[in-house]
Amino acid sequence: MKIVVIGGTGLIGSKVVRLLSEHGHEAVPASPGSGINTLTGEGLEEVLRDAHVVIDVSNSPSFADDDVMAFFRTATGNLIEAGKESGVGHYVALSVVGSDRLPESGYLRAKHMQEGLLRESGIPFSIVRATQFFEFVGAIADSATDGDTVRLPDAGVQPIAAQDVASAVARTAAGAPLNGTVEIAGPEVLTMDEWIRTALAFRKDPRTVVTDPDARYFGAHPGPDGLVPGPDAQLATTRLADWLPANPSPVE
Ligand SMILES: NC(=O)c1ccc[n+]([C@@H]2O[C@H](COP(=O)([O-])OP(=O)(O)OC[C@H]3O[C@@H](n4cnc5c(N)ncnc54)[C@H](OP(=O)(O)O)[C@@H]3O)[C@@H](O)[C@H]2O)c1
Repeated sequence: MKIVVIGGTGLIGSKVVRLLSEHGHEAVPASPGSGINTLTGEGLEEVLRDAHVVIDVSNSPSFADDDVMAFFRTATGNLIEAGKESGVGHYVALSVVGSDRLPESGYLRAKHMQEGLLRESGIPFSIVRATQFFEFVGAIADSATDGDTVRLPDAGVQPIAAQDVASAVARTAAGAPLNGTVEIAGPEVLTMDEWIRTALAFRKDPRTVVTDPDARYFGAHPGPDGLVPGPDAQLATTRLADWLPANPSPVE
């Protein structure tokens, strides 16, 4: 099958392209660097010609509330329009577990809006909701850093390796459209402060992680369950203790 991967140069996208190619698909990475821009529509018609599936694993360059909303609204709108014109038979989007539960987060509001556009698009679709990637540890720590202190809530998390996310996305894209949502997560429930403290200590990062139940995560108070998937989630096998030794320094 011809499968176009929007955001195919990114953390998840590059892994998805590799996996699909290894399984004999014609996987086409698409990003502004290769002349395909979902914000302007540039190159979309050409790249989607004869495509069976389109996967959207792009991300907004800015995480400011208004920017991320504008990015996913415009990009998804353009992709849906181009997908309909080309007659694409399956549209797969990567979203976030909890996007429907934590509207105080501007980022998650934007992801929930993206999901809604896809549901109403009329194109057969699959939404893969993932938990936080292990690879996101540096970005989470940096977003909560003040001096030498990282202030994070003891919210429940079930982080997952990017490679496991890519496998789930590729598998979903190669299958029939779900016309619904699947949740994917790592094998262990941790707390956010514990996760980041463990990872920074492993990397000999000098910052101290302080547990602050009132600290926000991208604007939200996730609590024990806000970012944790439901009982039907597909669980990956890579544990934090397996991933850290293989990723001793940041990849962000
Ligand atoms: N981080 C997490 O913990 C987490 C958890 C669950 C779900 N997710 C979701 O996972 C998805 C992928 O994240 P990621 O970390 O793999 O992203 P990433 O590494 O930042 O990659 C983003 C990709 O989007 C492309 N892109 C940016 N603007 C574009 C545009 N206008 N048109 C086309 N492509 C564009 C980039 O192209 P360039 O290479 O040219 O910049 C790049 O290929 C996101 O949708 C995110 O919401 C993330």
